[in-house]
Amino acid sequence: MSDAPTKTFPKRIFSGIQPSGGLTLGNYLGALKRFAQAQDAGIETIYCMVDLHAITVWQEPSKLRHATRELAAGFLASGIDPKRSILFNQSQVPAHAELAWIFNCVARMGWLRRMTQFKDKAGKHAEEASVGLFAYPNLMAADILAYHATHVPVGEDQKQHLELTRDIAIKFNHDFGVDFFPVVEPVIEGAATRVMSLRDGTKKMSKSDPSDQSRINLTDDADAIAAKIRKARTDPEPLPETLEGLEGRAEARNLVNIYAALADMTPEAVLAEHGGQGFGVFKPALADLAVAKLSPLNAEMRRLMQDVAEIDRILGEGADRADAIAAPIVAKTRDIVGMVGSRRG
Ligand code: TYM
Repeated sequence: MSDAPTKTFPKRIFSGIQPSGGLTLGNYLGALKRFAQAQDAGIETIYCMVDLHAITVWQEPSKLRHATRELAAGFLASGIDPKRSILFNQSQVPAHAELAWIFNCVARMGWLRRMTQFKDKAGKHAEEASVGLFAYPNLMAADILAYHATHVPVGEDQKQHLELTRDIAIKFNHDFGVDFFPVVEPVIEGAATRVMSLRDGTKKMSKSDPSDQSRINLTDDADAIAAKIRKARTDPEPLPETLEGLEGRAEARNLVNIYAALADMTPEAVLAEHGGQGFGVFKPALADLAVAKLSPLNAEMRRLMQDVAEIDRILGEGADRADAIAAPIVAKTRDIVGMVGSRRG
């Protein structure tokens, strides 16, 4: 499977976020903020609320509805402009589910068994997990490849899934002797590709952590943000002057990375400014920065959530535009596979 496609595809960015609960600072710094930067750089950008992914674990229907709209508000408040980017929810565009089925028949059981996120999520109860949770990475490959996307900005936790997306594209192209699907590039860049829990610097900040103190939610108000940073776990040493000094200090490193990503600085520059400070000084500076950056976002999300009809309208328009790109690609896929029929995208 070394015969990577030779055709060059125009640069197109695709990424998605699950509407499976609130957004965290990890989602913002690892994904949303970078999505807006890609859009502002003038690249073609397609962003999706992946509700089909969310239902791989149980979702209360009314909560799913609310979370999808709130996530849309999060995208918009983070600077995604529905005129410059395509913004939609996955279930509204049939190409995702259809291509995922074809990819279920391309990917191998052994490839999926190696996925660490399935092992983490299913835990000891793999037999009780939904089939969807196991096949989830194939749907993710379909999300991306239905648009012939070439670049996928994500946090570090999605790296293995994107490797599988590459393997699926390569195997499909090889099996059918075509040069049809691009081999995507993961874009995992910046200081905050893995924002860690505020209670334990070795664990990822996650919406599913039972402790609300472990994360900053984009719906937290200024007082909650400041209190969580004040109580964040740290060590007694002052901040070092250089990055090497953060070795073995996971919590300190995390707070420096968060500061860097919020301030659009490198971690080195943060240490050049704050090295030598104890956390008694650095934490309030970080709290002020986080409140300054996140409060307007939070206020904008609340404002947008007052008009869900407008959110639904934006998503509907986005779905039409997404469908116009994906349907012909999936129609061509059916044709390559040998499926007969005249229905085109
Ligand atoms: P999800 O919904 O878990 O997370 C959405 C995005 O946020 C990033 N992220 C983080 N980044 C840094 N630090 C953290 N603590 C942190 N937590 C989350 C994730 O890496 C991700 O970029 N399978 C995906 C959704 C998906 C998708 C796709 C992504 C479905 N189809 C196609 C890209 C392309 C997921 O569950 O992300």
